[in-house]
Amino acid sequence: MSIINQNNIFIIQTNSFHYVIGTDKNGTNRFFHWGKPCLVEDYMPEYNGFINSNHTDLDGICQECSPFGLTMYRNVDIKARFSDGCREISLDYNGYNIDGNRLEFKFKDKHYPLEIILNYLCYDDSDIVTKWITVKNSGCDDIVFEKLFSGEFSLPGVKPYKFRNTNGSWGAEFTQTETLLDGGTLIYESRKGTSSHTNSPQFVAYQNADEKSGNVYFAVLEYSGNFKVEASRDLYGKTRVGIGLNDFDFEYNLKGGEVFDTPKIHFGLTQGFGEMSRTLNRFAINHVFPKNFARTPLPVLYNSWEATYFNVSTAEQSRLAEKAAKVGVELFVMDDGWFGERNDDHAGLGDWFVNKEKFPNGLDELIQNVNNCGMDFGIWVEPEMVNPNSNLYRAHPDWTYHYDTRTPSELRNQLVLNMTKPEVQKYIYNCLNDLLSNHNIKYIKWDMNRPFSETGCENLENPKMLWYLHTKAVYDLVDRLKAEHSDVQFECCSSGGGRADWGAFRHFYMIWTSDNTHAIDRLAIQNGYTLTRPVKAMRAWVTDTEGYNRNTPLEFRFHVAMRGSLSLGGNMLKYSQEDMELSKEKIRFYKSIRNIVQFGDLYRLLNIDKDEISADIYVNEDKSKAVLFIASVNTRCFKKSIPLFIDGLDDGKIYSFEFNNQKIIKSGAYLKNVGIPLEAREQFFNRIIIIDEVK
Ligand code: DGJ
Repeated sequence: MSIINQNNIFIIQTNSFHYVIGTDKNGTNRFFHWGKPCLVEDYMPEYNGFINSNHTDLDGICQECSPFGLTMYRNVDIKARFSDGCREISLDYNGYNIDGNRLEFKFKDKHYPLEIILNYLCYDDSDIVTKWITVKNSGCDDIVFEKLFSGEFSLPGVKPYKFRNTNGSWGAEFTQTETLLDGGTLIYESRKGTSSHTNSPQFVAYQNADEKSGNVYFAVLEYSGNFKVEASRDLYGKTRVGIGLNDFDFEYNLKGGEVFDTPKIHFGLTQGFGEMSRTLNRFAINHVFPKNFARTPLPVLYNSWEATYFNVSTAEQSRLAEKAAKVGVELFVMDDGWFGERNDDHAGLGDWFVNKEKFPNGLDELIQNVNNCGMDFGIWVEPEMVNPNSNLYRAHPDWTYHYDTRTPSELRNQLVLNMTKPEVQKYIYNCLNDLLSNHNIKYIKWDMNRPFSETGCENLENPKMLWYLHTKAVYDLVDRLKAEHSDVQFECCSSGGGRADWGAFRHFYMIWTSDNTHAIDRLAIQNGYTLTRPVKAMRAWVTDTEGYNRNTPLEFRFHVAMRGSLSLGGNMLKYSQEDMELSKEKIRFYKSIRNIVQFGDLYRLLNIDKDEISADIYVNEDKSKAVLFIASVNTRCFKKSIPLFIDGLDDGKIYSFEFNNQKIIKSGAYLKNVGIPLEAREQFFNRIIIIDEVK
């Protein structure tokens, strides 16, 4: 909440921790403390380098930014090449600037016109600190960066840390892993062009932590492209973590006079994983989501994908819309298939013009029908892509990433457009701007369905800049469209949750969580999602699960999807009267609790994978009301008879609720420490319990 300078030791203060950095007598940037607040006068630069002639000082110290050069042999954050061939950075301290909650901690190269600023931002209403690095070229010749991380962290003590990340894939996003780092280097990264389904751009480090207790050191990166998290532990037990743009196949030419800001890192320290998730959730609402929508609940959405796939038309979509409106849906989104020759995934991407056979009178007829039903209209696009079978590709084969000597690898029968070309950006902007200007569209689902390959770009002086420039071009386009069409909301999708990162939350808004809409799998996927991502942004559809996996009752599917931003995606034309009644009732109920789900605090009580039962409670700000979701799938060994300890309520308040036809009136302390008896024994057991304070 404030930043204090004491002789070039900077104390960045939040309510729950101090982050202390500064310079030493050599003017080197140093890290000193990340932990419980101490007396600010006590902090001083301590020497913790080596005093052994076989080791170097630089390898022993903890830094906020470690440049490559001199006798530095550990992992570095920045590596640059100057025009005369020198490939080392050697920095002098260059002063600081504190402006309210913002610190600029400045350095400059001893010889070359390179300035490096370490930026810090803290917040009055959040125990999060943001940091990033600015590099400035104040000379004339290019400085070429070969590595440009956003910052480094050093974890307290010398005992090994565990790291929680994901090892997911399409249909199995946010699958959690825990890895003990007792030596060497642990890397989480993406090389696919997006942040991807596999690892997450974050670190979550701890020694002995669970949902409720234990120090959890965490950071998330606001970036949607190739990233890298590089954690290492040295012989002396020191654990350091660097995080930022992936240096794999990366370079960035900083021209004379140019300035570059690395992606931001948001970091914190909490007691337990639960408080980490809640701190990040509140931070997203208050500081990351687009301002005009951040505090408004998300509408209940219907998406046509699983109902009609590519087979969209005015008549059928209108019929679906009528059904959706009848049960209380507020926004109707038509997915893939409405443009070009898009009858399957072999053709049409790039031709963002209405398919006249499917929509002979244009889009407005459908939009009008949707609006007449009292719903807003949204539409699917995949702007970064082209099918070779498209007019766009036939006219501009050179608009894709390619090498003339290589056959382009098609994935999902499509190629990636070279988004670093201004003419490509202009084309996409014009198509989308026309779409939004000419039609009453309130929602864009922006998809991206394949990783990059054959990444040649003849237009770039340094083609290794493409990874960064692609992501930047996507952000710039979305930001421009949002500025022109401020009433339009953007959903970020990449074959499900392949771009579900903090860059997406900043520039788009919500994300499509996974193409796996099977409710049982969703319990695990959603649990993994909520660890470091905001609940409100998690779109969760109720679909028809037949054909994929074991079927689950419609009510069970609703109860799982209601733990995020409820959406529908089944073929409602096949819904029975009973299904329609149930959907209507569930949506009405969701609307009554969505403020608590989307803006409240989530406490994960039981985990389906570990406990065989999933239980999540969402609590409102003043802890006067909560919604408890419980679900389980099968009974084994009479095991599921347990006391459920209900966390998150106010110890001193009295609460009342109905459970298993019994009225329960107990204090928050009792519910937390004694719990309620839970028998989750039937097939597809699921309950939603509203807990109210007795006033
Ligand atoms: C992948 C997405 O994850 C789906 O929801 C759907 O939009 C398809 N693409 C459409 O091609």
